[in-house]
Amino acid sequence: MGVGEAHGKVILLGEHSVVYGRPALAAGLPRGASARAWDAEGESSLHVTPWDVTVTPSDERSLGKAFGVMLEAARVERPVRIEARVDLPGGSGLGSSAALGVAVLRAIDALRGVERDDASALEVSLAWERVFHGNPSGVDNAMSIAGGLAWYVRGEPIERVRTRRAIPLVIGDSGEACSTKITVGEVARQHEKNRERMEKQFDAIAAIVRNGRLAAEQGDLKALGQLFDMNQSLLAGMLISTATLEEMIGVARASGAYGAKLTGGGGGGCMIAVTEDRAGAEKVRAAIEEQCGKRAFVALLGGEAAG
Ligand code: MEV
Repeated sequence: MGVGEAHGKVILLGEHSVVYGRPALAAGLPRGASARAWDAEGESSLHVTPWDVTVTPSDERSLGKAFGVMLEAARVERPVRIEARVDLPGGSGLGSSAALGVAVLRAIDALRGVERDDASALEVSLAWERVFHGNPSGVDNAMSIAGGLAWYVRGEPIERVRTRRAIPLVIGDSGEACSTKITVGEVARQHEKNRERMEKQFDAIAAIVRNGRLAAEQGDLKALGQLFDMNQSLLAGMLISTATLEEMIGVARASGAYGAKLTGGGGGGCMIAVTEDRAGAEKVRAAIEEQCGKRAFVALLGGEAAG
């Protein structure tokens, strides 16, 4: 049997503009996906818990297609049976599809004794991801593979970001399923219609991301929060925020967060907020749960350079 694991991800700054070559600041989450692989007879199969769905490579559904594309890209010649588990809400902007793809690939590689470097894992898992949304920047897959906090530019290896202090992040799930394919398509339509304006917006986000990296490295969480807010205004201007996300962001700010924004594709999914410390994050988490009736959790990112 082969076993594989992969991280979920959260984008702190730079979603969407990262598709257009600008940088993003992102982190792997401790939660993600896991998979076990066995040799099999006949056709390969993939069963995913808790969705309770089983697909084969000849399946017309996206998951089946993605599985088939991955088996081909990874040159898996003999049939495999995979049991996988996703520990993230699907369609929430936390990279569940990329995490599942990476975990499946790692399980197959472990079963077959393949030693694959990160660049190859990214390439193969991107073939999988393209089935779900046509033009992925690769940030979800790169973070799913690497974990930790990183700076990502499309087509380049990630750069690790070391922070002076851990970043207390609240992640709140709007419960509205988001489709990255739809929001990436929406931004592409706006880009096609008004290229110059959108390029300026992407440049403005890139400046926010650069400052965000500095703020994270120096442990200036207040500045990081202000940059979250600026990034959120630009994302809302691209029409990919929702009333529910805005409400949750408002509650987070009112209960002491330094800043808050949507994360990932938008159009639903999750929001994030940054606070001074863990106690502040717990307060914001409780406020989102009580006032918005939505699920939220706290993650501490980075902090390796502390002390
Ligand atoms: C999705 O998690 C992030 C987006 O920027 C799309 C991508 O980078 O592939 C919206």
